[in-house]
Amino acid sequence: MERRTFVRAASAAAVGSALPAPTLGAERSTLLEAPFVHTPQLVAPVVISDSSGVRFKNGGPQSGVERAFQLIAEGTDVLDALIAGVNIPELDPEETGIGYGGLPNEDGVVQLDSCCMHGPKRQAGGVAALEGIRTPSLVARAVMDNTDHHLLVGKGAQDFARNMGFEVEEDLNTDRSRALWLEWRRRIDPLHYLDPARRRRIGYEVGLDMVREGLVDRNSFWGTINCNGIGPDGAICGVTTTSGLAWKIPGRVGDSPILGAGLYVADGVGAAGSTGRGEANLFNLSSFLIVEHLRRGAHPKDAGMAALERVKENTVEERLLNDRGLPAFDLRFFVLDAAGRYAGVAMYGSSESSYGLCTENGVEEPLLEGLLDGSPTG
Ligand code: GLY
Repeated sequence: MERRTFVRAASAAAVGSALPAPTLGAERSTLLEAPFVHTPQLVAPVVISDSSGVRFKNGGPQSGVERAFQLIAEGTDVLDALIAGVNIPELDPEETGIGYGGLPNEDGVVQLDSCCMHGPKRQAGGVAALEGIRTPSLVARAVMDNTDHHLLVGKGAQDFARNMGFEVEEDLNTDRSRALWLEWRRRIDPLHYLDPARRRRIGYEVGLDMVREGLVDRNSFWGTINCNGIGPDGAICGVTTTSGLAWKIPGRVGDSPILGAGLYVADGVGAAGSTGRGEANLFNLSSFLIVEHLRRGAHPKDAGMAALERVKENTVEERLLNDRGLPAFDLRFFVLDAAGRYAGVAMYGSSESSYGLCTENGVEEPLLEGLLDGSPTG
């Protein structure tokens, strides 16, 4: 479909300047065609994701980045390929931060968020607080393909999915996610609201204790997969999918399904997406900011670091700062530009924090570049 719409921007501009003042009909046709201008350029394909894209295989032979890269190399639409890639961790019961078996909300219900963006088509779709469907990325794609909307939430999203033929299950918990939720409930009354005296969320603190004790994988607490890719003709797409913050207030939506926060893609410019504390990202719309830095020519690493700096500057509440006065949370961005350059950046780097990458050289797990030394706890 893109072939039909591959119109060189330069020739379109030249045609436009040679035309007399357009009639309403001509103006309409120019407006309709404009979003589909995609200037193909030869690029070595790249797929980048957070570590879930390499850590989980759902019992199969390939990780998410590997699957997506193979499909792109075979000529599959880039967004279709990326979604096939993230379907692997979404369906893997061992991955407790994404899709089936994701850690549930404070009521024990798994609620999933996702969005996707197609660069060349200038199209996007998303779902939030979706229950009962293991692969929210496919529902986000269905919103993009079949509706005039960009975001459906809650029961409306589930009804839409059912009507589109998705199987709706009663419960997406696995024995593991349910047992971890029970452990959390055993430890604390569900006081997710701020204690007015200390402005602390007690339930959240207990959740982090479970991370520190090794009961809950740190990556699963805000567990998310963002996966971005570029095809050989320069087509850039992205998808983000998550079960969101563990033990969240029912209905809480993080950054993942929000265009400009959990994901942003601009054809001919680049893509960025995130994992980590969604609230910090929502406040700063970091993925949009990163792509705008790419648009001005920044390298993906510098663009990502600039967004992390912005998040750091805007983190002023005492409850969100560690004893060094720095953000007491992590946030990570996966950035890809139209030349196929890429970077994985994090608020805190460490020798154990890597991201997923697949290029013609195969799968790699490079270390994330950190803005700050140390860790969220100090
Ligand atoms: N970044 C995932 C979330 O906060 O929901």
